Amino acid sequence: MSVTLQPVSAENWRALIQLKVREEQSHFVASNLMSIAESQFGFDDEGHWNSHPFGIYAGEEPVGFLMYAANYAHSRIHVFIMRLMVDEKFQGKGYGRDAINLILENFRADERVRVAAISYSPENVGAKKLYASLGFVETGEMAGDENLAVLNLR
Ligand SMILES: CC(C)(COP(=O)(O)OP(=O)(O)OC[C@H]1O[C@@H](n2cnc3c(N)ncnc32)[C@H](O)[C@@H]1OP(=O)(O)O)[C@@H](O)C(=O)NCCC(=O)NCCS
Repeated sequence: MSVTLQPVSAENWRALIQLKVREEQSHFVASNLMSIAESQFGFDDEGHWNSHPFGIYAGEEPVGFLMYAANYAHSRIHVFIMRLMVDEKFQGKGYGRDAINLILENFRADERVRVAAISYSPENVGAKKLYASLGFVETGEMAGDENLAVLNLR
């Protein structure tokens, strides 16, 4: 099934907020409703970070959510993958990996993006393994209570 990322819109946000992770995973990621609310405002850290929220689609079916924030003027990190989730019914089918690969392709095509970052809970073994397999390397720093990992793209 071909996986695509579609920007959150007036048409799809209601379907995307229905997607849920497993109960025992719920402390790893905010709800999509919360993420879409946050995405309206971005945040400030060494300049402004704009948020870019997407639905992950397998064919026509919404299966997950991905959001990154960008601040191309930042001294060290230019894009931060803030959220990734795949609905409990669709996990383990390669959609999470495909979604990250798609966003990394976009980053690689954009010369403003030199370093991508991600953070995850130290207990989130699945996420850690996935990001490490794509080349993200832990810096040893924490982003809040999460491990920070970075990927140099150029
Ligand atoms: C993490 C998540 C997005 C992965 O999406 P997915 O579609 O289920 O994952 P994929 O099928 O693409 O698998 C990708 C890799 O993830 C790893 N993985 C995913 N879940 C795992 C688990 N529970 N245990 C161990 N490895 C796991 C595997 O290494 C897998 O690699 P493989 O392709 O070599 O088998 C999904 O499990 C999820 O939504 N989890 C809850 C929310 C969360 O933790 N988000 C990340 C916050 S940083």
